[in-house]
Amino acid sequence: MSWLPNKTNGIPVYKQISNYMESRIMNGEYPSGSTLPSERHLAAELHVNRSTIVSSYDELYAIGLVKRVKGIGTVVSIDNKAGGTFKRIPNWEEYVKSGVFQSNNPLNQQIYKIIQSGDQHINFAIGELSPDLLPIRLMQEVHNSMEISEFLGYEHMQGNMKLREAITSHLKTYRNVETNASSILITSGAQQALHLIIQCLLKPGDSVAIEDPSYAYSLPIFQSAGLKTFLLPIEEEGIDPEQIVSLYKKHRIKMVFLNPIFQNPTGNTMSYERRKKVLEISTQYGIAVVEDDPYSVTGYDNEPIRSLKSMDQDGSVLYISSLSKIISSGLRIGWIVGPQAVIQRLTDAKQQIDFGHPNYPQWIAAQLLSSEGFETHIQHLRIGLKRKRDITLHALQSAFKDNIEYGIPSGGIHLWCKLKEELNEQHLFKECVKNGIVFAPGSTLGSNDRYMRFTYSRVDDHMIEEGIRRFAEVIKPIE
Ligand SMILES: Cc1ncc(COP(=O)(O)O)c(C=O)c1O
Repeated sequence: MSWLPNKTNGIPVYKQISNYMESRIMNGEYPSGSTLPSERHLAAELHVNRSTIVSSYDELYAIGLVKRVKGIGTVVSIDNKAGGTFKRIPNWEEYVKSGVFQSNNPLNQQIYKIIQSGDQHINFAIGELSPDLLPIRLMQEVHNSMEISEFLGYEHMQGNMKLREAITSHLKTYRNVETNASSILITSGAQQALHLIIQCLLKPGDSVAIEDPSYAYSLPIFQSAGLKTFLLPIEEEGIDPEQIVSLYKKHRIKMVFLNPIFQNPTGNTMSYERRKKVLEISTQYGIAVVEDDPYSVTGYDNEPIRSLKSMDQDGSVLYISSLSKIISSGLRIGWIVGPQAVIQRLTDAKQQIDFGHPNYPQWIAAQLLSSEGFETHIQHLRIGLKRKRDITLHALQSAFKDNIEYGIPSGGIHLWCKLKEELNEQHLFKECVKNGIVFAPGSTLGSNDRYMRFTYSRVDDHMIEEGIRRFAEVIKPIE
């Protein structure tokens, strides 16, 4: 072998070697299925360290030219029969592994797979409304009055003006939040709102705090963005605001993500005193607060609870919400309320990502929010959710007596349960799926094996008891 890498030309030596070996593979010198020289052997020949050859072979693997075969070595994996033309198929497995966007928790992946398979599982896992809670008639009426030709172009990137105005007045009437249309960005659900905030206002290495357990915990979007997440344990009265201070002093957290009202998954609501304290701390240390509030309008007692945003005098809260839990998740209408500079920055990103939200669902949402029937729908929704909660509690009580603990939510859609006995979560989940029910295992939301979330909003009333019965059937033999 006469070729040797040039150690002075500025091209990393391992790259020169991978290029060299690539050309030898491509010209058929190492045909498909043949083995490349061992790392040790090639290192000696080229007068480099073995680790350099390891890096070169890693590169050949990443570009799909070779595979590693146990007991044999590095084997050419493309079809490069000498003389013939050959295909070089991209190494999709490697692409899939190397994307910056992290995969979902495997249990969440399983849940979505089961639900989307069309199997008839009783679904306590997903935060949606059952058909009897959706404003179907109202929506149909709105739909019938629609002039379709008006909604076929791109919409304003910040969102349809009528919808932003309707949200402005909805926020005032139902949530005590004063804002205006130019301070609102329409997003694809609250989920996209969170994503935009993370992508546009934070950078890799920044520290943020999220609640434990929480919906935010279940989202890999924080890790995908290279953020360091620190946990704020949820107590009956919400997180302890003093822990925000400790995290700030230790880790200089820049942002806190809170879901203070009927929290997902615990159903707990942060006390008024703690909400006030969070705002004080935010302005004392300059820590941005993201308030995720999809549930406050569902309160079963018709008693309005003041969101952080409604109490925020200084503009330190970015407020996120959506119509998913009060009208329909399929509309994918969410929004962010924030200072102009933030809204403009996020709008610019949304334009780059998807050219603004589809016009069609925005128009439907605007009409629904401004319709006379909306208030009646909300009353019906609150009654319906409370009824489902009560059926769930009753079913759990009869099936488990005091072998299971839970808080009693006064709004929202989730029941957070703790089993007295520790059980293997994976096993329990698998057995439940076999028995025809799905729920959200505690670990997906940041808790240990004993916890689980039952989301009662999506299950038809007459199936709730049956679902809990099936769950109990699985627990009993395991005990
Ligand atoms: C607290 C919280 N935030 C955000 C979301 C996302 O909802 P969507 O994107 O449908 O508005 C959910 C959904 O369950 C949630 O519970």
